[in-house]
Amino acid sequence: MSVEPEAGDPKAPRQHWDPERYARNARFVADLGQPVVELLAPQAGERILDLGGGDGALSEAIRAAGAEVLCVDASAEQIAAAKRRGLAAEVVDGEALAYEAEFDAVFSNAALHWMTRPERVIAGVRRALKPGGRFVGEFGGAGNVALICAALEAALDRRGGDGKAANPWFFPTPEDYGALLEAGGFRVRAAELIPRPTPLPGAMVDWLQTFAESFIKRLPEAEQGPYLEEVSAALAPDLRDAEGRWTADYVRLRFAADRVD
Ligand code: BEZ
Repeated sequence: MSVEPEAGDPKAPRQHWDPERYARNARFVADLGQPVVELLAPQAGERILDLGGGDGALSEAIRAAGAEVLCVDASAEQIAAAKRRGLAAEVVDGEALAYEAEFDAVFSNAALHWMTRPERVIAGVRRALKPGGRFVGEFGGAGNVALICAALEAALDRRGGDGKAANPWFFPTPEDYGALLEAGGFRVRAAELIPRPTPLPGAMVDWLQTFAESFIKRLPEAEQGPYLEEVSAALAPDLRDAEGRWTADYVRLRFAADRVD
């Protein structure tokens, strides 16, 4: 069976975002991000960078507090959706931020696990902050979607692929991420893992189609449907209840850190 290129290969499949599918299957991501906005505590008049802000749902919440927000994301489709909300928004690679001492705070929800070179992200965030500025966020931490990852990887291995190499996510422990922040010029105020089993609005296959393209797109089209069904069947005993409702095994890493000068 043929499998498309592995990660690290320039032809490795890239996750792409369809704002409508995202809104249908993943609106809960922003809904559950409200406590992170509270931890950020945006103040009127502050200038804040929303890193990996997607379609801008939480940028809007930050703007509602009176702050000036710039929403940045690697997805042109999501940034177009953020602009439709009337937000200032730019397509930017989070591993190559080029802002200089412009922001009072950098905020990020459910995005940093897509950026697998965290040293680059942290260096760019530090540069973007004014002296004393804060970096506050939440993303997938150690153990996040562990059952889902195991099922995706095992089913890809069975089709002749390399499941581990296809995994695009970075899910560190608070200790490891805290050490990266300290090494990158931050003082860590808080860093904790929060297990958060998360009910899904639809079926597991919908979640997989929304988030797991890195695995799916390695397979020829004709194999993608059977692959999704196989992963979903493997997960059902653990993640689907008697009424057919699905819950994803999310674990969040929530943190707050201050730029040291
Ligand atoms: C998360 O938000 O934890 C997540 C989203 C997509 C894929 C994996 C994890």
